[in-house]
Amino acid sequence: MIIMIAAVAENNALGKNNELVWHLPNDFKRFKSLTTGHHIIMGRKTFESFPKPLPNRTHVVISRQKDYCPEGCIVVDTIEKAIAVCPENEVSYIIGGGEIYNLGLPFTDKIEITRVHDTFEADAFFPEISNLEWKMIESEFNPKDEKHHYEYTYQTFVKK
Ligand SMILES: NC(=O)c1ccc[n+]([C@@H]2O[C@H](COP(=O)([O-])OP(=O)(O)OC[C@H]3O[C@@H](n4cnc5c(N)ncnc54)[C@H](OP(=O)(O)O)[C@@H]3O)[C@@H](O)[C@H]2O)c1
Repeated sequence: MIIMIAAVAENNALGKNNELVWHLPNDFKRFKSLTTGHHIIMGRKTFESFPKPLPNRTHVVISRQKDYCPEGCIVVDTIEKAIAVCPENEVSYIIGGGEIYNLGLPFTDKIEITRVHDTFEADAFFPEISNLEWKMIESEFNPKDEKHHYEYTYQTFVKK
């Protein structure tokens, strides 16, 4: 099963200058608890946005560069190969960024969105989730607090 996981603003913004544009510690915790122990598929830019590889996850990095081989990662040059190296009967996650969410959407069974209730300037965007193709099955609103400067909602979508 392939699950896409992303934190997405109201204008579908994901990040700018290869960084996130908000800080939501509870969303980081949720991301960690969902993805730990699994294969995580990402674009080369998202991989390079991390200070170091994420612990206890198998990194599958998509790049067109023939000589790109960061230590401890599986590097592939297509989304199809990225999915093929993930164990068939386990959950694997597509974790971004914008280019890879676009490529990965047709292969995705479920989407876990953290909808951040504001708009942001960005240079990477999540694709539109069509309500012809996707059905929201869960939604959990979270208010602002001293550690979270924006309201946000965890939303789960499955293919119709
Ligand atoms: N909000 C969130 O949940 C979230 C999650 C992840 C990332 N982000 C943000 O998103 C931004 C990064 O996203 P992005 O769209 O700029 O980059 P990206 O999707 O992370 O990576 C793009 C790279 O993937 C490779 N690639 C793309 N299409 C390919 C194809 N068809 N075949 C082979 N390789 C391909 C290329 O690598 P090469 O150039 O090496 O060939 C390309 O430069 C950052 O700001 C990051 O912080 C946000």
